[in-house]
Amino acid sequence: MRIDVLTLFPEAFETILNISIVQRARQKGLLQVVLTNIRDFALDNYRSIDDKPYGGGPGMVMMCQPIFDCLQHVEAVDPLKGRRILLTPQGQPFTQSLAGELAQDERLILISGRYEGFDERIRIALKPLELSIGDYVLSGGEIPAMVIIDAVTRLLPGALGDETSVEQESFTAGLLEYPQYTRPEVFRGLRVPEVLLSGHHANIRDWRLQQARQRTAQRRPDLLVEPSNSKQEKQSDSQHDRKS
Ligand code: ADE
Repeated sequence: MRIDVLTLFPEAFETILNISIVQRARQKGLLQVVLTNIRDFALDNYRSIDDKPYGGGPGMVMMCQPIFDCLQHVEAVDPLKGRRILLTPQGQPFTQSLAGELAQDERLILISGRYEGFDERIRIALKPLELSIGDYVLSGGEIPAMVIIDAVTRLLPGALGDETSVEQESFTAGLLEYPQYTRPEVFRGLRVPEVLLSGHHANIRDWRLQQARQRTAQRRPDLLVEPSNSKQEKQSDSQHDRKS
């Protein structure tokens, strides 16, 4: 996969690209990340990339021209078609299932900007997929872009050292992680649950699934609502509404 990042701060990505799974995926040739500085496409002597909003108000707005020119350059250097993604708190929530979808793509083009916002014509003309990593406002799209790179890279075939990790996770897919333990068996009087020491694989699997379900029900009951059920519920709700 090729991931292009259009950013004002390419240097911010150095750490994430050079550690752990992302670094290994790059070394194995599974992932190529190309950083392009939007400011290199500014036209004036001040290298401006933003300006005051029409109509007044606080903050600065990212201008169309540097982003359009930067994107045109990035798309021209490689004929591989990429999915355009704009990082913004106004976007669709980024989820694990979306990470899985993006991991199927051959190329992603991430556009990171300032949080104050983009000239609306960037949305209108470039028609990017707009993604938010959560309901909070960050100073820019760099950290969200790194989140997406990390979450997607883990899902590229061959990226995880232990290939079973993804499979292991899949039997509890959509649930929170079950409790994990490692040596020693007793630490400060706290014992590892007996079932994990039993060597009985079926029992261990059952225990983990039950723990994952219980933990999810307690901490994130919203994750337990099946999308198909919720659709049915909505339909029956609206039928109910119509009748009443
Ligand atoms: N830019 C600023 N805040 C953001 C967020 N929460 N998600 C994506 N992009 C952002």
